[in-house]
Amino acid sequence: ALREMSTLQRVYVTRQIPPEGLRILRESGQVQFELWDSDDAPVPREELLQKVRGVDGLVCVLTEKIDTELLDAAGPNLKVLSTMSVGFDHLSLEELKKRGIRVGYTPDVLTDSVAELTVALLLTTSRRLIEATHEAKTGGWGTWRTLWLCGHELTNSTVGILGLGRIGVAIAERLAAFKVKKFIYADVAPRPELAGLINAEYVSFDELAERSDFLAVCCALTPETKEICNKDLFSKMKSTSIFINTSRGGVVNQEDLYEALSTGQIAGAGLDVTVPEPLPTDHPLFTLKNCVILPHIASASYTTRNAMSALAANNLLLGLRGEPMIKELKL
Ligand code: DGY
Repeated sequence: ALREMSTLQRVYVTRQIPPEGLRILRESGQVQFELWDSDDAPVPREELLQKVRGVDGLVCVLTEKIDTELLDAAGPNLKVLSTMSVGFDHLSLEELKKRGIRVGYTPDVLTDSVAELTVALLLTTSRRLIEATHEAKTGGWGTWRTLWLCGHELTNSTVGILGLGRIGVAIAERLAAFKVKKFIYADVAPRPELAGLINAEYVSFDELAERSDFLAVCCALTPETKEICNKDLFSKMKSTSIFINTSRGGVVNQEDLYEALSTGQIAGAGLDVTVPEPLPTDHPLFTLKNCVILPHIASASYTTRNAMSALAANNLLLGLRGEPMIKELKL
């Protein structure tokens, strides 16, 4: 039995991931894994650096920074990293590539869930639902009033998508039912195949800002997109427009956003992602009525989180066997 044990590949899992993924790992007969057995807090960095020593594989979530220090601590056995996320801004891709470590991630399985939440956040922001429930239960609800709590509607609007990918398309497909007049998008290059699915027009970054009644950020966070949404963008937007971000907080300059929201340069913002996370409760953005902030829940449905954990587990096992992963990041 001991000899059998030693043929199993060693894996560390940085979080108590949803049951599907753990079951797949447990029943694989391929790996022995240790787990940071909590979902309440990330594994402390010191503990993580200890635990990864000599492992063959690593399963992580977006709270773990996978950088030179971590990879050095893990050492040369590490062959596969599998992150339970579609985002990969927490990974030093260059370092991983240099060391020949293969990387799995979890696109597609969360697209519908993220799109659904983005629509919910957009409507919550544009129709001022948080303000409205607050007024209703705190005595602000007087008589029916003609312009009280009015917002902006999707009917006949122009919706702009910054970074058109799977998620942007899925958002547009849903919003089309709200009688949106026009979809436009900006990206590093036109994406005719995806754009064709939603009949979206490719425009410049400036035009996206100027024409969008609703602007949804759907791009990955990279050095090129860091704080791409700044005062330059906000100053070109209409005073009636709504800004929505369900990608990564780092694409937004939050001081500039605060300025734009508090001076009425734009009408409102809905954010599922911020810098840092969690956003401190005394952060100025929390003082604004026209800013709706969610705690990074776009993919948070039971079905989707289980699918993400299963995909992360399967990517890991395939990678450790030297086979193509279901979803592998090209490095
Ligand atoms: C991701 O997958 O990158 C999301 O931010 C969490 O689902």
